[in-house]
Amino acid sequence: MCGIVAYVGEREALPILLAGLQRLEYRGYDSAGIALVPESTGGRAAPAEGEHRLLVRKRAGRLRGLRELVEQTVTQTPGVRYGTGIGHTRWATHGPPTDANAHPHTDCTGQIAVVHNGILENAVRLREELAARGHRFLSETDTEVVAHLLEEELAASGGQVTKKAWLAMLQKLEGSFAMAAVDARHPGRIWLARYSSPLIVAPGADGWLAASDIPALLPYTRKVFICGDREAVCLQRREANFFTFRGEPIQKVVHQIGWRAEQAEKRGYTDFMIKEIHEEPAIVERLSERYAPAGQVELPLMWPPSWWEQRRQGWLIASGTAAHAGWVAKRWLERIAGLPLEADVASEFRYRDPLFRPEDWALVISQSGETADTLAGLRYCRQHGVPTLALVNVVGSSIARETDQVVYTDAGPEIAVASTKAYTAQLVVLYLLASYVAKVRGRGQVSTEGLAALPRLPEQLADVLAREQELERVAQQLAEVEHVFYIGRGVDQALAAEGALKLKEISYIHAEAYAAGELKHGPLALIGRGTPVIAVLTEPNLVVKTLGNVQEVKARGAWVAAIGMEEYQSQARAAGVDTWFGLPELPRDLRPMLAATPLQLLAYHVARLRGSDVDRPRNLAKSVTVE
Ligand code: AGP
Repeated sequence: MCGIVAYVGEREALPILLAGLQRLEYRGYDSAGIALVPESTGGRAAPAEGEHRLLVRKRAGRLRGLRELVEQTVTQTPGVRYGTGIGHTRWATHGPPTDANAHPHTDCTGQIAVVHNGILENAVRLREELAARGHRFLSETDTEVVAHLLEEELAASGGQVTKKAWLAMLQKLEGSFAMAAVDARHPGRIWLARYSSPLIVAPGADGWLAASDIPALLPYTRKVFICGDREAVCLQRREANFFTFRGEPIQKVVHQIGWRAEQAEKRGYTDFMIKEIHEEPAIVERLSERYAPAGQVELPLMWPPSWWEQRRQGWLIASGTAAHAGWVAKRWLERIAGLPLEADVASEFRYRDPLFRPEDWALVISQSGETADTLAGLRYCRQHGVPTLALVNVVGSSIARETDQVVYTDAGPEIAVASTKAYTAQLVVLYLLASYVAKVRGRGQVSTEGLAALPRLPEQLADVLAREQELERVAQQLAEVEHVFYIGRGVDQALAAEGALKLKEISYIHAEAYAAGELKHGPLALIGRGTPVIAVLTEPNLVVKTLGNVQEVKARGAWVAAIGMEEYQSQARAAGVDTWFGLPELPRDLRPMLAATPLQLLAYHVARLRGSDVDRPRNLAKSVTVE
């Protein structure tokens, strides 16, 4: 997912844009660029017609290369102020990461520049038509067509980007976009529009800002306006005018963001990922106090107890780590609340022709609230009249705004691409949801033990974090391997899946999770001398069987690292595990939140030993807004 920043105001735009792009680095990108609109100062006459030239600098690679390039140019233009500008970090979808493909893209005259996040599905046809009319293209991107379309609209609107020209151009686009454009002839003005990709606007820094997501704006303000689909904005130094794609003015509601700027900074940690793992005890404590004060579940659910009594079939809509949280929730909802949950991944869900029945409901889980597969699944449910409840971390995100009911996981900004604290927060809220549903369905006694123990979870998590070095030692055994197997049964299988995902996405080691009982049906053929196997052992009624599978792999020469409840250590040692990481006692229901952290720490330390960029792993983005 690309990052967009824009600023127009009384200050110099460049430092604000660079700082904003820096705060969006976590999204993952492979090139970056900036366009600045010059204004003459110091008594010089305004540039003569034809002198209107934007300062556009863009290049492949990391931001520091762009910073040097732009700062060098700006210092060479004394007497010129750049109070209006747009910036972009690109995660390549159309065309490789080259200087030419980096945004901003300009029209033939070099007087219009555009940055864009999303995919324009009719770009090929538009490009052919524009080229046939003489437009020269300098990149392989879909975005560049926007600059040339705008150029044509200007010819019909007296030479400057106007609301009419901006809207006329937007009508020609098909696909997803959040975009910003500047016109060299009109310093002090930025045009923006949103369809399906996030775009946020905010007053601050003696002017107005816009960005593709909240962390870029936090140093300046916590009051934001969230653009909806088919909404456009004209930003000026002292005002923002919102209007629909049909040109009708819109009065926007301000959103107060609960996050503070420093939460989106490393604050002494080596990486965001390790910082976010260490935030887990505080997050669990905050969620317990917020959603289960004195052990009584108080989730902000709009449906009455009778509605939950009528539910029959739930449908999970989630991707990646969020889906793994949903797999744990499936076991809680079914065992504790007696409510079945179909648990596909979102990218499969809507193509499987789900057989909806009356009294169905959908459980949507997403940290970013922008994941295209998950958003598409949510929309599919709504189109079919299935009520949707979404657990989301980012306030005002697309999923949060489109679902029938949202419960925020309140984990603060999660910057590292690998989701950790958000996963733990999702598990806590999902457990409270299962407990609430159990209670209103007359099965409340099942979860009283877990709810009563919830206040102890933060300190148990802190105990696990305090023993991080034990996991570093295990990580040293894995740093050079090529394959790792994760095994578990019941909820431990879902935990194994999350542990394997963490390892593969940040260390680039091939890791697969298997239901432990499934090994003998094939995967056991892959186990040989020294093959590393991670066994997850929290399920009381399944630990003996999983240890039987440990003996199976040990008999083939495997090296086994086990993570489980301390009470199982002697059995595990007897089964032949090579290393043991014991978890402090907690009731069965709360154990997934505890077992997740060592799995995250293990992946983190293996990746660090291998020198990976743990916050921004290759090929991945923090929020996957393309299908
Ligand atoms: C998890 O570590 C990955 N970054 C990825 O699987 C992520 O969980 C998935 O893309 C879903 O993202 P979401 O929670 O923002 O919807």
